[in-house]
Amino acid sequence: MALSERLQQLPDQFFASLVKKVNQKKAEGYDVINLGQGNPDQPTPEFIIKATQKALETPENHKYSLFRGNPPYKQAAADFYRREYGVALDPEKEIAVLGGSKIGLVELPLAVMNPGETLLLPDPGYPDYLSSVALAQVKKKLFALKPENQYLPDYEAFEEDLAEAKLLYLNYPNNPTGAQATSNFFAKTVAMAKKHQTMIAHDFAYAALGSPKPRSFLQTPGAKEVGVEFYTLSKSFNMAGWRLAFACGNAEIIEAINLIQDHLFVGLFPALQEAGVAALSAKDNQIPELNQLYQERRETFVKAAEKIN
Ligand SMILES: Cc1ncc(COP(=O)(O)O)c(C=O)c1O
Repeated sequence: MALSERLQQLPDQFFASLVKKVNQKKAEGYDVINLGQGNPDQPTPEFIIKATQKALETPENHKYSLFRGNPPYKQAAADFYRREYGVALDPEKEIAVLGGSKIGLVELPLAVMNPGETLLLPDPGYPDYLSSVALAQVKKKLFALKPENQYLPDYEAFEEDLAEAKLLYLNYPNNPTGAQATSNFFAKTVAMAKKHQTMIAHDFAYAALGSPKPRSFLQTPGAKEVGVEFYTLSKSFNMAGWRLAFACGNAEIIEAINLIQDHLFVGLFPALQEAGVAALSAKDNQIPELNQLYQERRETFVKAAEKIN
């Protein structure tokens, strides 16, 4: 059977082929430390498990969920953003519920771009953004993240591409460099986006990890006019397998995401959304402890790397 041309154009699923390589090395007897996929090794906090067990026993949660997410999950996401970042969000108009942020990042170009339009992606960057290039049949252009610029894009260096681009992806704290965005850089991003009428999608997957505390793009004045941010519970709450996330920000872009999801999904399992409410609502959410653990591991790694030069 011949696959559709769209599917034939998809890149190799990077992580699938990486896992294959790792397993092969393991089978050959190597002790492999897998630094490839950001798959948390710590368990989901107990208070979230407990809330989910209760939610599973509620018959109402066994029915189809509402399209566009259940209001308590969206409210919890809005409250979380106000508490963590001082950002006000309208839960109905400015939040879209996602089954993991990956799906949102891949479906956004399908929702807001036409074939042949230009999508700007960071290099190096998270490989799954490339899946949307083939699926939405858009033109990909890469922009460089260089150490001399603290892995922040130098917008002046690719101004022509910006003028052409419909959508630009950013990701801070950055995978794979770990770089953080500054408030100045985000302010420059908003100004650039307004000048060139380029939409911004900020992938905030590693929001919980880093010191000083990573900034939300939506803390920037004017950010909501130009873009959206993707927040996932995968890393902040050790919930990668649960597939809980949301997009937030510009109401028109959120509506576009909701519209495409109306056609592709029904919604997330309601009990999972209750788990999300528990995670996002907890005052003692264990994020600081998790961040501390990763900082300690990072320091150990850096020291050992320095030792072997
Ligand atoms: C930079 C980045 N963005 C997005 C994701 C996707 O996260 P999820 O689909 O679990 O929300 C990951 C996962 O590793 C990531 O590293």
